[in-house]
Amino acid sequence: MAVRGEAPGKIILFGEHAVVYGAAAVALPLTKSVKVTLRPGAGNVDLRIPKGAEVPAHHNAAAPVALLERALGDAFATHDVRVELGVPPMAGFGSSAALAVAALRAAGAPRAKAKLLERALDVESVAHGRPSGIDPAVAIWGVPIRFQRTDRIRVRALPIGAPLHLVVGTAGVHGGTAPVVARIGETRRRAPALIGRAMDALGAAADAGAKGLARGDPALIGQAMRIAQGILDGFGLVGPEVRDAVRAAEGAGALGAKMSGAGGTGGALVAVCASERDAKRVVRALRGLGVRAWIERYGVSLPRNRSAR
Ligand code: MEV
Repeated sequence: MAVRGEAPGKIILFGEHAVVYGAAAVALPLTKSVKVTLRPGAGNVDLRIPKGAEVPAHHNAAAPVALLERALGDAFATHDVRVELGVPPMAGFGSSAALAVAALRAAGAPRAKAKLLERALDVESVAHGRPSGIDPAVAIWGVPIRFQRTDRIRVRALPIGAPLHLVVGTAGVHGGTAPVVARIGETRRRAPALIGRAMDALGAAADAGAKGLARGDPALIGQAMRIAQGILDGFGLVGPEVRDAVRAAEGAGALGAKMSGAGGTGGALVAVCASERDAKRVVRALRGLGVRAWIERYGVSLPRNRSAR
C-alpha cells in the first residue's frame, strides 16, 4: 500500500540569517509543495523535479537521498520512494525542509507540531550545519509564522489583516545555504558589535513587518523590507541578478522588495504589492529580466491558537 506525505516550501519575508543568532523572523508557506510517496520496495528513489525548474550543475544530487535516509530510518531500505519536488530546489524556497517534513509525514511521524519540528530539525541538519529551524517550522505549520529561536523555539501563527499580494521569484545561481551561513558566522566573529546590531535591526524589521501584516498595511511591510534589504546587501548576500530584480520590482510598483533565504550569489527574492494589478505588473517586469516569478496570495486570517511551543 502506498502512503504519502506533503509539505509546502517557504518564503522568508524577514529575518534570514539573523534568525540563526536569535532574532525574530517571519516566513510564509508557498503554494508549491513537496510530496513523498512510499511503497514497499528496496530503497529506490524516483526524484521528479518541476517542469522548467533549473537545477544548478553543482546541485548535490546525493542530498535528497541523504535527507530521505535520515527521515525514514530503517523504512528507507524496505520502501521505494517517489519524490515530487514541486518546490524549485537550491533557490531559497526551503525544498530540503519541505522534503524532510513530507518524508517524516509519509513515514507516520507524530502529528504534534512541536514533536515533528524536533524530528525535522534533526533531518535538516544533514543539509546544512546550523539550521535555525524556520524552514521546517513553516513547512509544518503551513501558515504565516513569526519564528524565534533563543534558549527555546517559539513559533506563532501570524494574523493577516487584509489580503496580501507577494511576488516571489528566483534570480541568479544559488550557491547553497551552508557556505553562506558559515560566511556570515565568520563575519560576525570578526565584527561582533556591528553585526550584532545589524542583526538586531533585522529582527526589528521582522516585528515591524509582522505588525504590517496584522494591520493589513503593505506600505509598512514594504518599508521594513527595504531596510532589511539594505542591511542584507551590506552583508554581501545580494547577488547582482537579485539586486537588479529588486530594483525592477520596485520600479514596477512594488512597495518593497528584498532577497529572501540564504542569498549569496543568487536565489529567491520577494516583493510586496498593494493590489493584484500591481503584482501582475511586477511579475511582467521580472519576467522581462528573465527572472522566474509568480504571485503568492494570502487571505485574511486571525489565528486563535497562536503559541505553539
Ligand atoms: C535559510 O532559509 C534561512 C537561513 O536563515 C538559515 C536558517 O535559518 O536556518 C539563512
